[in-house]
Amino acid sequence: MAESTTTRALQQGVVDLIALELQAKQAHWNVRGPQFRSLHLALDEVVAAARTQLDEVAERLSQIGGTPDGRPATVIAGTVLDEIDGGILQTDKAYALMAEKVQKVSDSIKESIKPVDDEDPVSSDLLIQVSAALDLQAWFLRAATE
Ligand SMILES: [Fe+2]
Repeated sequence: MAESTTTRALQQGVVDLIALELQAKQAHWNVRGPQFRSLHLALDEVVAAARTQLDEVAERLSQIGGTPDGRPATVIAGTVLDEIDGGILQTDKAYALMAEKVQKVSDSIKESIKPVDDEDPVSSDLLIQVSAALDLQAWFLRAATE
């Protein structure tokens, strides 16, 4: 099928949700410090949310005739997220870092909601749901350090 605003937006969602899922798991394993347990568990909620939404977005792309590309090289080349540092992540910085990452993916998705709505309101509605789910997780992470 031809590329469109909608297929491009959904494919962008695919790569960003995969990157977010992987980076949240990386942080889940490597976080240390005060409130370790809370952040360790919160990060697995981010992983679960990203994974659930990822499947919805990828399968919507398939439904409209696209071919979701979740290959590692495609994710690295296309995601809006910067790479996460290797090694230990201290909780004081990791809360803010991960809140920013979740919010960045959500905000990127939000930018495509209106353009997609002109082409395919159902895909646009899905992107709203994805953004809402990510906003919730970003808020959980931010609220923990306010
Ligand atoms: Fe775990």
